[in-house]
Amino acid sequence: MKRGIKIVLSVALLSSLSFAGEQFAMSAADRAMYAEMSENNPADLMVANGEELLDKYVGGDAGLAKFFKVSEDDLPTYIAGFPRYLPEFKQVVALDQALQGAMSANGHKPFTLKSSNMFDMDAYAKSIANDEKINIDVNANPQMKQAYALGEKVYMTARGGRGLSCNSCHSKEIVGTVLRTQKLPDLSSNGVAVAATWPAYRMTKSSMKTLQNRFQGCMKNALLKVIPLGSPEMVALEVYLTQKAKGTEISIPGLKR
Ligand code: HEC
Repeated sequence: MKRGIKIVLSVALLSSLSFAGEQFAMSAADRAMYAEMSENNPADLMVANGEELLDKYVGGDAGLAKFFKVSEDDLPTYIAGFPRYLPEFKQVVALDQALQGAMSANGHKPFTLKSSNMFDMDAYAKSIANDEKINIDVNANPQMKQAYALGEKVYMTARGGRGLSCNSCHSKEIVGTVLRTQKLPDLSSNGVAVAATWPAYRMTKSSMKTLQNRFQGCMKNALLKVIPLGSPEMVALEVYLTQKAKGTEISIPGLKR
């Protein structure tokens, strides 16, 4: 099954476009970058690469459905429910870790979570669920409940030399204000439900990145100790922010600054 790949401009971006006259509008350089991207979009090539990799290492959509023990028709809805507790893994996993499992079940050495091949394959796999609404169930089992609680804790806990938490910059009170030249994005369902737009192409990095990778970027910028990809804390953060995006239609690949 093939689904259309959509390019999504985040709401934060759209609002800065519509207030182009304001002091904190997108910089001319950023505007040029978006214009260039909408003409000539490398994100689509990366998703296409991901599709080839999934074919080669997992047997395509059919192979992935088989690995998840769902029908190919149910695959999009199933993918829209990640992160999930998978009994084979004995833990809550994000889609990239599930893909590692699918690769090894097919006799291949899995890509590492931080490899660009994994970012591309993860982007393609999530795009299978394009237009589906995020249907994560944080009450599905004790493991998901625990992951949600841990994610909320990681999100709220102030750390690092500057004593910042994720919430310090992304809480309702502060979103829309400006840090250096960047608007602080709202990560909640009332604003931009960002989990529906990752994996995304980051223009400033010229590459596809996962949501967990984006978290690491914020950790680095804010001088918080960087948590490893795929660790229980990282997956928990993804669970927490995906719950905030529940009901939002998935649109992969996102297009981000
Ligand atoms: C010092 C302030 C600050 C802290 C602390 C911070 N962020 Fe961010 N975050 C930002 C800014 C600014 C951006 C947007 C940057 C840009 O547009 O390039 C951003 C972007 C993001 C995005 C991408 C939003 C989108 O549009 O898709 C996510 C996800 C995110 N942050 C999550 C987190 C998480 C999780 C934490 C805690 C580990 C965190 N942030 C901590 C300032 C912060």
